[in-house]
Amino acid sequence: MKTVNIGIIGLGSISEYHLKPYGNNPHANIYAVCDLNEERAKTAAALYGAEKVYTDYRELLADEQIDGVSICTWNNTHAEISIAALNAGKHVLVEKPLCRTTEEAVKIQEAVEASGKLLQVGFVRRYDPNAQMLRAFADAGEFGEIYYAKASSIRRLGNPGGWFSDIERSGGGPLIDIGVHVIDLCWYMMGRPKVKSVTGNTYRKLGNRANIQNLSRYQAADYDAKKNDVEDLANALIRFENGASLMIEVSFTLHASKNESTVKLYGDKGGFEIDPEVMMTTEKNNTILNVHPQTDSAGFQFEKAFQNEIDHFVDCILTGNQPISPVEDGVEIMKILNAVYESAAQGKEIYL
Ligand SMILES: NC(=O)c1ccc[n+]([C@@H]2O[C@H](COP(=O)([O-])OP(=O)(O)OC[C@H]3O[C@@H](n4cnc5c(N)ncnc54)[C@H](O)[C@@H]3O)[C@@H](O)[C@H]2O)c1
Repeated sequence: MKTVNIGIIGLGSISEYHLKPYGNNPHANIYAVCDLNEERAKTAAALYGAEKVYTDYRELLADEQIDGVSICTWNNTHAEISIAALNAGKHVLVEKPLCRTTEEAVKIQEAVEASGKLLQVGFVRRYDPNAQMLRAFADAGEFGEIYYAKASSIRRLGNPGGWFSDIERSGGGPLIDIGVHVIDLCWYMMGRPKVKSVTGNTYRKLGNRANIQNLSRYQAADYDAKKNDVEDLANALIRFENGASLMIEVSFTLHASKNESTVKLYGDKGGFEIDPEVMMTTEKNNTILNVHPQTDSAGFQFEKAFQNEIDHFVDCILTGNQPISPVEDGVEIMKILNAVYESAAQGKEIYL
């Protein structure tokens, strides 16, 4: 089987979870790396054996040896770099969120269609073994019609600072950063129903709480607490054309007693939970059963999910198959995220 040459653009925190899996994949060669920060690029090249180091992504894209790229940069560059990569004839794996706005998302989709190249959106939660296992149960009709889902990603102290809290570069706060994962996961599990309307609220009450001591938290590669113009908290109710609904709440900071991550879905034959731990609930012989599937881990397997995501991208390049998280799904999720912000700004329900 052929080996594909990969370029990684953006070498901050998440890049390790692209670099390591490419390194583990026998059909992938980490050929080039690129970051605005040359030292960061050189360090990654030395660690993962990349032949070429770039600080300008355009130069990397002009390199004819490269088959596909992983885009792991700030959200404001996803559209520009994805479109340039597709136009340069490269296959693209772009980190979530696809971009910042629906307008950008549609332009990316047009570039995918015009180029005939693949674009896989980094909806990594779909690639978790438990998510795939539950998806197979859903496809087999075990839960019946899934008509309600709810998800929380609550960080009581978790604004990563830097570009994450600069709305120009991020496009938003916890909704676009962590909400995107659980909204996509629920929507995927529900069978990707067509969205009808969205109502949402966003709050900026607590700031980034950079003053808090004695409690460590995740920080961006270039941490800077000075700028923060994103929301602290967002909640939303998403209605679908088939009558199903999804409720979500997400925060970077909140006066909550602990962090919380829950993802729960309910059908007319059974229900299931993905976070914090996988389980299913059903009814047999007039009795309610809580079922605990025996898998390697009851929780989200971060590293395994990234390995599956990267293996899938390499496989799609080699086989020409479409990814399980294609550009059109990125566009639909972008529409939902934008509608939550629009609804919050206008104080009313938005019909799509
Ligand atoms: N899938 C996940 O679970 C997950 C987790 C964290 C972050 N992410 C996503 O990954 C992306 C990066 O996040 P991060 O936490 O690694 O951020 P980061 O700030 O740690 O790293 C981003 C890197 O991109 C570089 N960069 C920015 N613009 C560039 C450009 N035009 N050309 C070359 N390099 C450029 C920066 O110098 C920096 O080194 C974001 O889109 C984020 O949403 C996904």
